[in-house]
Amino acid sequence: MSLAPVRGQPPRDLEAPRGLARGWYVAERSARVGGRPRATVVAGTEVVVWRAGDGAAVVMDRFCPHQGAALELGRVVDGALRCAFHHWRFDGEGTCVAAPATRRVPRGASARVHPSWEGLGYVWTWVGSAVPEYPPPDFPHLERSARSGRRYRFAFETNATARRVLENGFDLPHFPVVHGIAGDLRLTWDAEEDKHTIGARIITDSITLPPPLDRAPGLGRLCLHLRSTPSYQVLTFELDDRPMAHELLAVTPTAEGATTMHGWTVMPRTGGLLGSAPAFWAYRLQHWWGTRADLRIYRDAEETDGSVNTSDDEGVLRFRQFHRGWTGRVTE
Ligand code: FES
Ligand SMILES: [Fe+2]
Repeated sequence: MSLAPVRGQPPRDLEAPRGLARGWYVAERSARVGGRPRATVVAGTEVVVWRAGDGAAVVMDRFCPHQGAALELGRVVDGALRCAFHHWRFDGEGTCVAAPATRRVPRGASARVHPSWEGLGYVWTWVGSAVPEYPPPDFPHLERSARSGRRYRFAFETNATARRVLENGFDLPHFPVVHGIAGDLRLTWDAEEDKHTIGARIITDSITLPPPLDRAPGLGRLCLHLRSTPSYQVLTFELDDRPMAHELLAVTPTAEGATTMHGWTVMPRTGGLLGSAPAFWAYRLQHWWGTRADLRIYRDAEETDGSVNTSDDEGVLRFRQFHRGWTGRVTE
């Protein structure tokens, strides 16, 4: 397994909150990270995100290890984060490099830095174990779209758990009911690629879509290809075996009962109706509408143990089994 370069190694394991999978989560949008540290919460842990002197983003515990001042009140000076209370400075590895009021930097003075990676417009951080166990997302469509595609970024807030959001695409029987996608839907599993990915295709040969997509002529075979890790997933929608849209969905729990769905949708600018501007806007509207429909269900839903089910629930149950394998502590 090859891992992208990751900054920071925490001095001790970061335990994922109960039920949360070990994985990569979005800490902040890249464009928001600059000279001023920004406070945020990832999986219940309060952090600050800032840029070190070499331009790399740093995800660090929010409170100064000296006397606990909130570090977003400080600023970046000479490439290190300076606390506003007594002007101790911490570099991108969390090491205290200056403590002006004392003759020498106290031994062991360091701020906890979380493993992080920057890409796809976000600063990501690894949660759940001391060392990342799988790579951050690979989504080459975004870079390509800058030259030859249409794209949009999205962010939705929900009170659902990350797992419930990620399993939704595998929930075959909800598509006709919640999204109005009717047809002979069936689910086939991908051959297993690696331990951290589960993949499936949801296919129908005779599709009926909700308005305004139902007006598009020539709709035939629809395939939704899902490839999910325990913390993010990549979805591809194909019509008649032609890719219509690629989506990156990153699901970040913040506080208890609060989850943010960050992501990108990219549509290849191909010839014909599918690559046209009206198709882009129709797709975007349908995405917004469909997500709102899911969020409405999530809002008042309760957790069940999954013991009451039918064979159509296989997608969700199998995803849950996969996800469960990534929760809890790692024993090394
Ligand atoms: S509390 Fe941060 S330097 Fe003292
Ligand atoms: Fe859905």
